[in-house]
Amino acid sequence: MKDIKVLVTRKWPESVEKKLSETFDTTLNISDKPLKESDLIEAMKNYDALLPTVTDKISDTIISCQNRRVKIIGNFGVGFNNIDIESAKKNNIVVTNTPEVLTNCTADIAMLLMLGIARRASEGEPHIRKNEWTGWRPTHMMGTKVTGKTLGLVGMGRIAQAMAHKSHYGFGMSILYFDPYFKNNKIAEKYNAKSCESLEQLLNSSDFVSLHCPSTEETRGIINKNSIQMMKNSAYLINTARGDIVQESDLIEALKSNVIKGAGLDVYDREPDVPENLKNLSNVFLLPHLGSATTETREAMGLRVFENVSTFFKKNEPIDRVV
Ligand code: DGY
Repeated sequence: MKDIKVLVTRKWPESVEKKLSETFDTTLNISDKPLKESDLIEAMKNYDALLPTVTDKISDTIISCQNRRVKIIGNFGVGFNNIDIESAKKNNIVVTNTPEVLTNCTADIAMLLMLGIARRASEGEPHIRKNEWTGWRPTHMMGTKVTGKTLGLVGMGRIAQAMAHKSHYGFGMSILYFDPYFKNNKIAEKYNAKSCESLEQLLNSSDFVSLHCPSTEETRGIINKNSIQMMKNSAYLINTARGDIVQESDLIEALKSNVIKGAGLDVYDREPDVPENLKNLSNVFLLPHLGSATTETREAMGLRVFENVSTFFKKNEPIDRVV
């Protein structure tokens, strides 16, 4: 398939770059600098496959460009809200993503955020580094017990299910979920997970609320001033899904005025910009979008893109086709 021209927009794990280069006429991004819109338009005209990732905004302007050559966009990431899917459909471009291979690692990060914020690991670690620790004492840095509490999952897809598994079997937690599209009672029964009729019901019954829905018109901003007020005063919000599901300024206000106890965040509305007034709060645990960031998972994601693109050029249906 050496006659097929492939562009990779960011640096990928070496083993996958090697495989791509051995198979296709591949252009890599060794410097790892994000491509500009004009670069992406040029790429659409000069390559057969574009392999972007979740931080590359693939807009209608890019997809609908004149003299387009790209036939498949193989996204490195399970979320594909970075791509204008309607435009891809309209222009007959195949789009694929990378589900399954990142499920456990992303759920692990959600667990880390839940434990880290509740048990104040985010404050404890710098406390030692800054030489502020004066020793053990009965009332020092008391956090919130996680074991046995209620976890509310917004969205009940693969990552939510993995978190339900870890929380229920590892931490004896009761599981609630709100997902109008999820109808698989057999899966829910495995974790004794109870479906909530409404987001409100989930929010006011959970000690931890973890977001696992995609970013869509329906979900953007669903965690806002109003909905945060439905949460318990003692509750924590965890977000490993997408930043724009949360109205960031409303969350900051709620955290400042103790409407909820804390938040653990891996994703932000305008990444990599994280608002200063969020960084200044002590009741947040902040990570830089690390959900899938393990060597094993990032290699598996790359290989999944490789499989999707190879399958497509062998004139078969890629397994992860979303459009
Ligand atoms: C995704 O895949 O959508 C994540 O946000 C990055 O792993």
